[in-house]
Amino acid sequence: MQRKDLQISYYLPESPEELQPEELNLINIASESLDSSYSPYSHYKVGCAVLLENGMVITGSNQENMAFPSGLCAERVALYAAASNHPGIIIRSIAITAQSLDFPVIEPVSPCGSCRQAMIEYENNQDKPIKLILGCESGKTILVMSVGDLLPLSFKEEKLKKKL
Ligand code: THU
Repeated sequence: MQRKDLQISYYLPESPEELQPEELNLINIASESLDSSYSPYSHYKVGCAVLLENGMVITGSNQENMAFPSGLCAERVALYAAASNHPGIIIRSIAITAQSLDFPVIEPVSPCGSCRQAMIEYENNQDKPIKLILGCESGKTILVMSVGDLLPLSFKEEKLKKKL
């Protein structure tokens, strides 16, 4: 059988100066929203900031629950708040960062599979890539130019036709 290889690209700025002011600002706003994380079980705070095409920024943080699966990641809290309060506005970028009460988070946080799936739906709907800015406490940052880069071979079933 034929072997196929997929390559994904991301960017590693060597210092914060290499980030655009808009990217730096968004990661700072994501850091501020760590304060609203409700994470008494994992002690792992995640903050997220979603930048819309009209300049608005919608934030979210992870919200846990004693019935563990009922909790929600910061990314989906922010993304769904953005989509429900500002439907149809193009999403430019999403910044995510994390902090633990138990250990230093020194590598950029990367969205879980469910959040990637949630994000790619909006990216596909708007036909414009959503840039991801992944940060952490150490200041190290990763830039991913499109959600699709983080979710190759994603689920796309044409027969599940959307009725919009
Ligand atoms: N978490 C997020 O908020 N985003 C992710 O992409 C990964 C994990 C949260 C869920 C849970 O509250 C905590 O981090 C530990 O998994």
